[in-house]
Parts: sequence; C-alpha cells; structure tokens
Amino acid sequence: MRYIRPVVGFVDLHSHVLSGLDDGARDLATSRAMLTALEALGFSEVYATPHQKAGQFLPGLDAIDAAFAPIQALAVPGLRLGLAAENMWDDVFFDRLQRGQIPSYDRGDVFLVELRPHELPLGLVDQLFRLRMAGKTPVLAHPERYEPLWADDGLIERLRAHCGFVCDLGAVAGYHGKQPQKMARRLLEEGVAAAVASDAHTVEDVRAAAEGIAWIAKRLGRPAVARLLDDGPRALLAGELPE
Ligand SMILES: [Fe+2]
Repeated sequence: MRYIRPVVGFVDLHSHVLSGLDDGARDLATSRAMLTALEALGFSEVYATPHQKAGQFLPGLDAIDAAFAPIQALAVPGLRLGLAAENMWDDVFFDRLQRGQIPSYDRGDVFLVELRPHELPLGLVDQLFRLRMAGKTPVLAHPERYEPLWADDGLIERLRAHCGFVCDLGAVAGYHGKQPQKMARRLLEEGVAAAVASDAHTVEDVRAAAEGIAWIAKRLGRPAVARLLDDGPRALLAGELPE
C-alpha cells in the first residue's frame, strides 16, 4: 500500500486501538500492532474512539484517559494519537447532549456518533440541526450500516446537511455484508461521504481497511484517496462539512 502513501498523512477518525475498555484491542501488544499497521498504510494521525454505549460498553472517562496513557507511551514513530469516543445515540448520549458534555475529538466541538442499525432516533434531523446551530459538528460513524438510509435518498440528503458521513473502510471492502458494502461504495462514488475510517478493532480490521483504500484508489483514483483520508477528515476536525 506504500504506493499511495500521502505527503502529510492520513487521519483515522474512528478506531478501537485502546485496550481493556470494550471490544477493541485485546491487549497492549495488539494496540501496538494495530498502530504500526495503520502507520504503514499511511496514517499519521489516529484517533482512539472507544465505545460509549449504555448497557454494553460504557467505560468511564477516567478509565479512558488511563487506557490512553500507555498507548501514547508506545510512541509509534510518525504517528500522532488523539482521543475521542464513539457515542451511541442513546439515553446517556442524550443526557450529555443536554448538558453539553459529549466526549469529542480533542475535547473540542466535533464528535463521533453512531446510531442503531434498524431504526433512527425520533427527531434526529432536528437534533443534528440544533447541534450545528450551537457550533457543534456531528460526525456520523458508518452511515452505510443504517437500514432506513438504504432506500431513502431524501433522508440521506437531510442528514448529510448537518453531519459528516464517515464510512468504514472494512465495509467498502465487503467485510460488513453485501448491503453495507453496496451503500458504502455508493456514498463514496456519489461524493456523499466526507471521509473514510478504519473502525479497526483488530489487526485484521486494518488489513480490511487496506483493501478498502485499494478499492478507492482503483475505482475513484488517488485524488479521492487524499480527499477521503486526508483533506476530508481534517476538514471535519476543523468543524467543516462538505458542500
Ligand atoms: Fe466503531
């Protein structure tokens, strides 16, 4: 994959490289292997986004900070590590939203959110609109996974007006099922996706991400690789959504 290595570096907005918190990296050695593999793919910045999901994976913010420290100490050359969270849109999220305390990228105004696959939350578009008006930038994890979007272009348009779509590279490569693959590829081909990310939980997921990048390079060309892995994620981190 070195042939598409960028000048500055790719940014991974969604990864589960922290160990001991959820279903991410199972130990520190796995964290190191994942980060080394991501760096070899061309990533220069990787955000750890541990789950914040009520009833399943809800590590405390202190535990997340404690898990982040040894990862930073791994010091993979050429790699900067950042911290955020993958926030499930549930009651905990909604409470944090009301209090303005959503765990975010570098504790700023941009945050990663995921939805349940079968049914979207009531009032989702309105809430996203309000968040944008309040100066926040929601980043939507794996939009290809949400069934209500599969046959509703109008809903896709309404959602993407208020949040950045970040597709999983593994889905692009076909590891998350046929429909998500079809949807992820369509969102990329039609220029709807703002970025792509590894969503890696394991070293194998990083290999799947490499296949996703290879597909983008072959099908959409190198400028698309740069847009989706470099400019796109950096723009989102700066609070900008694509036109
Ligand atoms: Fe994830």
